[in-house]
Amino acid sequence: MKKLKVGIFGAGRGVDVSRDFRMLDCEIVALCDNIPERLQYGAKRVGEGVALYDDFDKFIEHPMDACVVANYFHEHTPFAIRLLERGISVYCECIVNGTMAEGVDLIRAAERSDAIFMLAENYPGMCVNQEMHRICQEGKLGQLLYAEGEYNHPADAYDTAFVKTYNYDPQHWRNYLPRTYYVTHSLGPLMYSTGALPKRVCAMAAFAPRPENAPSASFVGDRAAVMMTQNDDGSIFRFTGCAAFGAHGNAYRICGTKGQVENLRGMFDKIMLRYNEWETPEGEESVQCYTPAWAEDINPEVVKTSGHAGGDYVIARIFVNCVKEGKQPPFPFDVHSAVAMSSVAILAHRSMLDGGAPYDIPDFHNEEERAKWENDTISPFPKADGSVDIPCCSHPDYKPTEAQLQAYLELLK
Ligand SMILES: NC(=O)c1ccc[n+]([C@@H]2O[C@H](COP(=O)([O-])OP(=O)(O)OC[C@H]3O[C@@H](n4cnc5c(N)ncnc54)[C@H](O)[C@@H]3O)[C@@H](O)[C@H]2O)c1
Repeated sequence: MKKLKVGIFGAGRGVDVSRDFRMLDCEIVALCDNIPERLQYGAKRVGEGVALYDDFDKFIEHPMDACVVANYFHEHTPFAIRLLERGISVYCECIVNGTMAEGVDLIRAAERSDAIFMLAENYPGMCVNQEMHRICQEGKLGQLLYAEGEYNHPADAYDTAFVKTYNYDPQHWRNYLPRTYYVTHSLGPLMYSTGALPKRVCAMAAFAPRPENAPSASFVGDRAAVMMTQNDDGSIFRFTGCAAFGAHGNAYRICGTKGQVENLRGMFDKIMLRYNEWETPEGEESVQCYTPAWAEDINPEVVKTSGHAGGDYVIARIFVNCVKEGKQPPFPFDVHSAVAMSSVAILAHRSMLDGGAPYDIPDFHNEEERAKWENDTISPFPKADGSVDIPCCSHPDYKPTEAQLQAYLELLK
């Protein structure tokens, strides 16, 4: 079969993922970024022979089968729709819709297109999450009742390299990112392992702003938001967005009527599987602690060169196979699940601002639900004139101090 031609939109994360598409025998044909230094930096990393564009309108005229959409976090939808309209398959970074209205638009565009749309959520591809998925799907835990997911990424407030690399503009999305919004790395693995779809969400946040003199332009003083969902199978999830509490690490735990499985905090690649004594399957130990192996069809030597503990490669592989076979991706990477996941992020933030009140997650298979949300463009991210619709923090008036802002602007010089 001929090599897939892949374009990359966004020279940050997009360039990281391009390596996985090369490993999957695809050809990277074009790269687009409208910040000249970032385009040049990306060009060096993506290799020779790749056409460079600073204008998306010209970029999408380049012949390609598929495109990685890795521009700004909250701006993926309009570009994804333009690609789908041209019949170009989309591998879309998270979240896929920045507003509820965009969720409706994206689903309508995906339905009109023959191209493939997939959420580029890579954490389910990590070996521990592959193992938890296998255990759940084999029914070993019985009926699944409860799951926890933590994507916990504290950063040193004085780490100037981190600030310069990731928050390189005062208006950058990371300076306005509500703690519920970066939800796919915690919720995605839970949905993948259990097969459950959130139907209702509520959230609360913990406020602890950065030190007074740390370089920062962030309007988010919260360190974490914890969300809870009731799901379509009656189960409950409890999870973070991107949190910054305790010690760094990702943690997942799934509990059923017969037992539970979790990865061990601080020892990410180790699994603890436990059954109650009377529920232990014959021939197994009640308590099992082990490092899982990759599935047989994954080459450990290949996968270890990929980012996010191999998750980048494993999930990109699903997309490449879907495009080659002309089939839409499985749950929870398909467009409806991806929009539901993004809606959890958006509505959980509203819940948090609303004292933890529950919000129903709409089902956009349903035309009535689409009509209800199709004009809801409310966003916590700044518009071109700097205005925002709603605060991005649990303390609505929170903003960086003069000292923080000056230290930050000094850093960017
Ligand atoms: N799955 C993961 O593990 C993972 C890791 C990092 C980032 N991400 C996601 O990837 C996306 C990008 O993240 P990032 O860290 O690279 O963000 P970033 O903001 O640093 O980079 C986005 C890039 O897109 C470019 N861009 C934005 N709008 C453009 C336009 N209209 N035309 C041309 N170029 C444009 C910017 O110049 C910038 O270089 C986000 O959604 C983020 O959440 C995912």
